[in-house]
Amino acid sequence: MTEMNAISRFFVNLRTGRASRRRFQWLSRSLRLPPHASCLEIGCGNGDFAARLVDGLAPERYLATDLDPRQIEAARRHLSRLYPHGLPTALDLQTADMLALPFPGDSFDAVFAFNVLHHTSAEHGDFTNVPRALAEVDRVLRPRGNFAYQDFLNTEKIRAWLTGRAYTIAAMERRWRREIVLAVKSATTPGSVSDAKPSETRAL
Ligand SMILES: C[S@@+](CC[C@H](N)C(=O)[O-])C[C@H]1O[C@@H](n2cnc3c(N)ncnc32)[C@H](O)[C@@H]1O
Repeated sequence: MTEMNAISRFFVNLRTGRASRRRFQWLSRSLRLPPHASCLEIGCGNGDFAARLVDGLAPERYLATDLDPRQIEAARRHLSRLYPHGLPTALDLQTADMLALPFPGDSFDAVFAFNVLHHTSAEHGDFTNVPRALAEVDRVLRPRGNFAYQDFLNTEKIRAWLTGRAYTIAAMERRWRREIVLAVKSATTPGSVSDAKPSETRAL
């Protein structure tokens, strides 16, 4: 597990809402949350996407997490500017390591992980720890739960891991090396390799 250096942190916190707004618009075309949905975000950065999703889809609970306590503080500052009268009751923040999520199994209807899976090792292209992070996502996600992520490294291997566990790739968009994917967990315990194909590919 690796925390970002000060320069990377500076750029993550500099981000305006443009990227997360586009991400949310793209996702909301395909993402279906059940009533009273409980959502988890890992590696939430400045928390901007959390605000878009909470405002747009009104889950009952949205827990935005990050490994780095300084990042959680930065997200609190950013969110307090977006919500000057206090955070929505659904929204909460806490530290958590994606390699050992401190939540029981089957806790969430959706998990979000944008530009974070490549942080599982100090060498960002190293796939060794990514399956551990994906297994943690899979453990905390309920059957038929949604896993939305974006990354630019190991993208084929990540998709292969998911489809190998019977996730369906419900939506996907690729721009250069960067992929954004919405994968839906099977309703039953996976046993076989799925040959699910993306059902839609739209511009982000
Ligand atoms: C490149 S930033 C992406 C932030 C945000 N998701 C975005 O797209 O703007 C990666 C984030 O992952 C966090 N991170 C790194 N390693 C992590 C880990 N093992 N568990 C959880 N978060 C981690 C970093 O602190 C940072 O906030």
